Amino acid sequence: MSDGKEAIVVGQIGCGTVGSGVVRILRDNASIISRRVGKDIAVKRIAVRDLSDPRYVEVPEEMLTTEAMEVIGDPEVDIVVEVMGGIEPARTFILEAISRGKHVVCANKELMSTHGEELLRAAEEKGVDLAYEAAVGGGIPILMPLKESLAGNVIDQVLGIVNGTTNYILTRMSEEGLDFGEALAKAQELGYAEADPSYDVEGKDAAAKLAILASMAFNSRVTLSDVYAEGITSITPDDISFARELGYVIKLLAIAKDEPDGISVRVHPTMIPERHPLAAVRDENNAIFVSGDAVGELMFYGKGAGSLPAASAVVGDVISIARNILTGGRLVGCTCFFQKPVKDMKDVRCRYFMIFDVPDRPGVLAKIAGVFGENQVSIKSVIQHGTGREARIVLVTHEVREENIRATVRGLEGLEEVNRVASLIRVEDPGEE
Ligand code: NAP
Ligand code: HSE
Repeated sequence: MSDGKEAIVVGQIGCGTVGSGVVRILRDNASIISRRVGKDIAVKRIAVRDLSDPRYVEVPEEMLTTEAMEVIGDPEVDIVVEVMGGIEPARTFILEAISRGKHVVCANKELMSTHGEELLRAAEEKGVDLAYEAAVGGGIPILMPLKESLAGNVIDQVLGIVNGTTNYILTRMSEEGLDFGEALAKAQELGYAEADPSYDVEGKDAAAKLAILASMAFNSRVTLSDVYAEGITSITPDDISFARELGYVIKLLAIAKDEPDGISVRVHPTMIPERHPLAAVRDENNAIFVSGDAVGELMFYGKGAGSLPAASAVVGDVISIARNILTGGRLVGCTCFFQKPVKDMKDVRCRYFMIFDVPDRPGVLAKIAGVFGENQVSIKSVIQHGTGREARIVLVTHEVREENIRATVRGLEGLEEVNRVASLIRVEDPGEE
């Protein structure tokens, strides 16, 4: 396609946070990139929504257009980079680019976690590449390693801190004693949160990333609607300090496990032991922890968002495709050749941390123990913090089905002896049952 041309030509849709980083990296590192590829890579045209919007990077005026189809339809463009986000019209633009034989790079987790199968199939049929490394973990290379470097392994679990905003909030709550609202305000001031922060704090952003990770790790299509998502809005400073007392840290974890009875995919606040490598991931950083049967445990760590980190992943994809254009190679396409069932959340097995408040009088613990027993929930440890008239019970269970713990909570809430169930947080503690 680039035969006789001086450069591999890129057309871009979007020039915001990520798009401006792509322009900057391709310009600032042009010389080394050209040496690595064997040819220059040049951005020719960029579509934006509003020509009068300020740009974070210098872009010649004549390069910009508000018509994405002008970029996609340009016969000189080899690779279309979609960094506008959202589902439509991004989906239509990508399908149109593919149908015209253009290779595509995007950073769009929302789109790939919902329409990934359709887009990858279209690319396969047309014989073009579609890459989306930046969609998960920003600057952290994780999708290509899962598809290529780790392809000799059976991967049975992926645990990730894949949302920077929530990790920042939980870190500030833990280290400065801020409450959720104060920590969210700080995250917004620093520009980590999405325009609508509910996408971050309710776990939807992490769920989209987990669907993509699980699909690749387990070779079976997982879409956003398969992922159970629970956010961090109900986490309190008390939860954090009780967790610390028990040797745990609370993180919003994205958890994917390939189990004999199906795949479990879930995002929720999770208590992990202080010794776990993910416990040390602070502030807005991301990390993805992978277990493979041959390689053992690996952790990929770095900046999950931001202009240059995310653009680093986009440019990496552009370079891989540029090399393929020159050599006639192809990226590994869709690897979802299994159709594994996805487990319902009620069937997932976990350990649980609970806090509830009870009147401090004889016979209360016996009543409570009865509810746990009726629901086959075994208690591993319990601490009572007495305050005179009211006592606070903090306990951790052995592993049990989610359905049983939900029945236990309903049972406790129905007891006259329980004033309130204050917290229920899942515990991920490898090696403990
Ligand atoms: P952004 O700053 O809001 O930029 C979006 C860009 O798209 C803007 O330049 C906007 O134009 C342009 N645009 C919107 N609608 C358009 C349309 N219909 N036609 C042409 N251009 C259009 O978004 P971003 O943060 O760069 O995110 C882009 C993508 O990267 C998203 O899929 C996001 O999930 C993903 N991502 C972001 C990060 C991050 O750190 N931000 C990290 C990893 C992945 P105007 O400038 O004129 O408004
Ligand atoms: N809002 C996202 C985060 C950044 O906080 O991680 C882009 O994925």
